[in-house]
Amino acid sequence: MQPQPQPHPREHQLADHLESILLSEGQIRARIAELAAEIEANESTRPDLTLLVLLHGSLLFAADLMRALSLPLYLESFRVASYHGGTSSSGELTMDPQSLSALRGRHVLVVDDILDTGRTLAAVTRVLREEAGAASVTSCVLLDKRVARAVEFEADYVGFPIGDAFVVGYGLDYDGRYRNLPYIATLKPEAIGGGE
Ligand code: IMP
Ligand code: MG
Repeated sequence: MQPQPQPHPREHQLADHLESILLSEGQIRARIAELAAEIEANESTRPDLTLLVLLHGSLLFAADLMRALSLPLYLESFRVASYHGGTSSSGELTMDPQSLSALRGRHVLVVDDILDTGRTLAAVTRVLREEAGAASVTSCVLLDKRVARAVEFEADYVGFPIGDAFVVGYGLDYDGRYRNLPYIATLKPEAIGGGE
């Protein structure tokens, strides 16, 4: 009998934390190709389009999205944080004001992982328009939790509308972890708040 391959200890540990896979790598890849086609069709009229990547959450999404776009893009990024170790948005926003100066006069497409309460993107797009002096601002999110909205905000491009579950993977974290998963998954209740 052939010896069975042993699961890598780390994979084993990860699988113990996950409840189910909500969106597979293939589903994400296919939807990004569609989004890129949509963005190219609409945004090619905006010269010097600048992708503004909100870190860390949209790191993986933006990396795949920009490779699917055949526009001559500029790239900027900055860090925003609205969750501080919990699973609901605190509404608190920290932005690096220095990164904003590069966006003056630019047509900006903000890329974020997920639209939840809407506070992050509402605040970011307001700052871009009113303080950074961007020429125009649109937004693209991979996921949209519509039922969770606390402020009025709609993204121009949405990958997938999802329900109110807390999700991780493909850039999204819970308390800093799980961003490296290549798919989007839900966590077991015991992985949320309960420690290891
Ligand atoms: P909003 O300000 O409530 O719209 O929150 C947006 C930010 O909250 C996102 O960029 C994520 O960083 C985080 N977030 C919202 N929902 C989730 C989730 O289900 N999993 C992980 N992070 C989330
Ligand atoms: Mg986050």
